[in-house]
Amino acid sequence: MIILHTIAEVRRYVAEQRAGGKTVGLVPTMGYLHEGHLSLVRQAKEQCDVAVMSIFVNPLQFGPNEDFDAYPRDLERDARLAESAGVDVIFAPGVDEMYPDGGGKSLTYVDVEAVTETLCGAKRPGHFRGVATVVTKLFNIVLPDRAFFGLKDAQQVVVLQQMVRDLNTPVEVVPCPIVREPDGLAMSSRNVYLSDEERVQALVLSRSLRMAAERVQAGERDADALVAAVREMIQEQPLAKLDYVQIVSMRDLSLLSTLDQPALLALAVKFGKTRLIDNIVLDI
Ligand code: PAJ
Repeated sequence: MIILHTIAEVRRYVAEQRAGGKTVGLVPTMGYLHEGHLSLVRQAKEQCDVAVMSIFVNPLQFGPNEDFDAYPRDLERDARLAESAGVDVIFAPGVDEMYPDGGGKSLTYVDVEAVTETLCGAKRPGHFRGVATVVTKLFNIVLPDRAFFGLKDAQQVVVLQQMVRDLNTPVEVVPCPIVREPDGLAMSSRNVYLSDEERVQALVLSRSLRMAAERVQAGERDADALVAAVREMIQEQPLAKLDYVQIVSMRDLSLLSTLDQPALLALAVKFGKTRLIDNIVLDI
């Protein structure tokens, strides 16, 4: 496995692979890797000849009061894990390489409308603009055939699928399932921030999602009743501060009041300074 830091090096590497008839899969990440990220690599290796992983904590997608500076970073550890999962090349650019005009700013942005209006899009202004812009840059740098994204960030997947459709980007966005700890907590680089007590109470997220899915299986179709039940369960945990619980259409992420189509139940909850997200697809 090799680690490259410049755009020029990555372009050269990928051009050589393509000249040899190889297909290229891209796994974009912000590093501090865990099994969720590595599951994307395994998918990439199954579907493509070469797996490129980008590791870049993208300043553009963090709000002014978010954790850009504190976001965990450890390239040495990431390199070991990435190699063990089968990554062929890591692209780990500095902020200046990606945003040479300084300060992590860009004069050109990719703004995806409508599907960014609910869930995290409503709570984190500018977040998905930052994601769509950096992912466009990564696509333009790596020119992958396919790019692999986790449904842990379900809205991100929908936003990026919309983006490649709207802009005719020749990259297939491949959604991959959520990877969880054995006790149900969705894996996240941010889980390292949790205290022992917060870590135990955070199990309410996956527990409440399962409870809602069971109610749907038992016939419940009232989205507001389901949301209320999930909110109530989460609020029983004294350290949990609810950000949102919403049920949206899987197609366009618009809010649903009745479960009459494939739906996504998604939530964000803060424990201390740590904001966790989780979701479940509600099959009807
Ligand atoms: P990051 O949070 O590092 O996540 C990188 C990829 O790993 C995303 O596609 C995310 O959905 C996936 N992932 C994270 N936890 C997962 C889990 N428990 N199970 C399955 N997949 C999981 O998402 C980003 O970075 C950034 O927004 C990025 C797309 C890299 C743009 O900067």
